[in-house]
Amino acid sequence: MTDSVERREVTTDQPGQLARRGHPEAWHEQYADLNHFLMVYKFGLAEINTKITILAEELTHRGSGNPIEHVSPRLKSPASITAKARRLDCPLHFDDLRARIRDIAGIRIVCSFVSDVYTVANMLTRQPDVNLVVTKDYIAKPKINGYRSLHLIVEIPVFMSDRVVAVPVEVQLRTVAMDFWASLEHKIYYKHDPDVVPPRLRDELTAAAEDAARLDLRMERLHREIHGPRR
Ligand code: GTP
Ligand code: MG
Repeated sequence: MTDSVERREVTTDQPGQLARRGHPEAWHEQYADLNHFLMVYKFGLAEINTKITILAEELTHRGSGNPIEHVSPRLKSPASITAKARRLDCPLHFDDLRARIRDIAGIRIVCSFVSDVYTVANMLTRQPDVNLVVTKDYIAKPKINGYRSLHLIVEIPVFMSDRVVAVPVEVQLRTVAMDFWASLEHKIYYKHDPDVVPPRLRDELTAAAEDAARLDLRMERLHREIHGPRR
């Protein structure tokens, strides 16, 4: 990427508006820049996704049971990139966005049991080409609302024709029970104005997260009693 591309402001979150204002060429040019900017994140995501697929298949073949229930990779949309940049007061330039927004590429790995979350996280982060940058363990220390998940920011090298780019990817690992709660909480409440939701309902959502955590413990115990610890 050249410097001129790097420094150009991103205004393509509302391409329709630009086009309507009569700048179709400007829109195409910026759209191409944005696609170029996002391309390495797409590749980084593909690299991590492949690693997870390999782990899941190999563990299945090893006969010790596949700890991964499902995986969903996602690339942040231009609209959410610009919205987050505004929230962070981050200038809308590619190099600032690259430095400040670390979850442009994200992958959610939903595991069967809590111990599987840590097993998979370790299997991924001990690979020599995976650089662990940040760990946020919301399982050991849940958020105040009860949200639980293990969040990692890892960097993975992407080999382009003329350079290697270390691409950050946000990896969210959680159990099915944590995923069930987080998906529904997201629909019900997440990022809504806290003032419009009565505290009683907020407390009830938090209590539901604790129910889910108890269910996790119980299912893990049942699994261990029947199958013994995973090898
Ligand atoms: P974002 O700006 O939302 O990316 O948050 P952050 O940069 O402070 O990072 P954090 O690790 O706290 O959260 C990252 C992501 O985890 C979010 O984008 C959500 O996908 C998920 N998440 C975090 N907190 C909650 C929560 O309370 N409820 C739900 N449903 N998801 C959450
Ligand atoms: Mg995020």
